[in-house]
Amino acid sequence: MSQNAGTPVHMIDLIRKKRDGGVLDAREIEFIVNGTAKESIPLEQLSAWLMAAWLNGLTIDETRSLAVAMRDSGEKFDPSRLGKQAVDKHSTGGVGDKTSFLIAPLAAACGVAVPMISGRALGHTGGTLDKLDSIPGFRSALTLQEFEEVLQRCGAAIVSQTPTLVPADRVLYALRDRTGTVESPGLICASILSKKLAAGLNALVLDVKTGSGAFLRKRADAEFLASLMVATAEAAGTRTVALLTDMGQPLGRTAGNWIEVAECVELLRGETPAESEDLRELSLRLAGWMIYLGGRTETAEQGYWAVAGALADGTALKIFFEMVKAQGGNLDVFDDLKSSHKPGATLVLNAWKSGYVADMDTMELGWAVQRLGAGREKAGEPVDPHAGIEFHARRGARVEKGQPFATLYTTNEAMLAEPVERIKRAVTFSEEIPEEVPLVSHIFAREDAEAYLRKKTSDS
Ligand code: URA
Repeated sequence: MSQNAGTPVHMIDLIRKKRDGGVLDAREIEFIVNGTAKESIPLEQLSAWLMAAWLNGLTIDETRSLAVAMRDSGEKFDPSRLGKQAVDKHSTGGVGDKTSFLIAPLAAACGVAVPMISGRALGHTGGTLDKLDSIPGFRSALTLQEFEEVLQRCGAAIVSQTPTLVPADRVLYALRDRTGTVESPGLICASILSKKLAAGLNALVLDVKTGSGAFLRKRADAEFLASLMVATAEAAGTRTVALLTDMGQPLGRTAGNWIEVAECVELLRGETPAESEDLRELSLRLAGWMIYLGGRTETAEQGYWAVAGALADGTALKIFFEMVKAQGGNLDVFDDLKSSHKPGATLVLNAWKSGYVADMDTMELGWAVQRLGAGREKAGEPVDPHAGIEFHARRGARVEKGQPFATLYTTNEAMLAEPVERIKRAVTFSEEIPEEVPLVSHIFAREDAEAYLRKKTSDS
């Protein structure tokens, strides 16, 4: 039963209610979110509530209340002064998932504003902000005024949650990372949408990952998450689509911090090795949808070709550099991408068997990247900007025993053993060529999402 408006709310009651499978009402959720933002609820109580929410799940209504309360937990950005449609994309998280560095300048080049509020490494996945921190001087904790100035100047800006901007997500995001409570559709949906809705977006493109490197590995769970996010964002007034995309192998050929930024700069310069082709293609598809939803083209396909043009003529590269510079980054580091990469230790791991690369447990590969120092074990720890893995063979490639399979970069040699074991556990070789997996397997717009949720509710 929901509590009356005047009845005092106690965190312990909300933990017990969720633990016992109860459903919290909007007022109770607001109590948790406000206490999180003001840091008045002890972390042990928040952790217990997160675990109860993870174990019992959040209902659609609870998820919506959580997303809206988190959005309202701090200041909001008003993009109306930019004089352009504000459009963004967000991914549910993957390994080597670096499309933001391509998408932000691509979409900005085609006439929409991209006010992007991003996160740090979470679970086995890397963080956009940790990757950007590998550029000396880069600042992601901007004030709202600075955020607007960068957007006015460059058309795109990538910033973090701060004590004033979506503060509830800043706390919950870091706590979920440490308490094993990341992989929950309701918590992921609220975390992502709180940031996107606080940015005042007109439209949003979601990259919902499915496969072994996604938080929700099973396709049905990813479909539910996609529907939940599209319907929730649309109900809050933001035009939204979700692309269901493959995370059955790392995206592109690198996973780490600086090496991911460098791979994107190579692509922006027009160099696309075959191992980076999936990254290029997905970025064009997502950015194409963004500019279509932002009213710049009549179809998403026209959007694709428009952003492909901005990639080919160098406009997107120019905007990326302008944005980095406007956020304090030192552009000298891009003069020679290879010599700017300064890992403490490097190891080339040769293929330990011959055959076709048949399967990659991408979550395991993501943990290997984190253990090399690209992510943190404790909140607030520094990450190694030069840590990561470069993969020389992708799913479906034929390799011979002894040929280079991956290069590992880390701080010191002692940190290599565990990641090497993880990679060997994660990858299987076969004598048969594995079946191809489509990069984008489905697109959810509002009607599909609502129909999916209606069916799910009537089936349960
Ligand atoms: N990205 C986010 O911002 N939050 C999540 O929970 C997962 C991915």
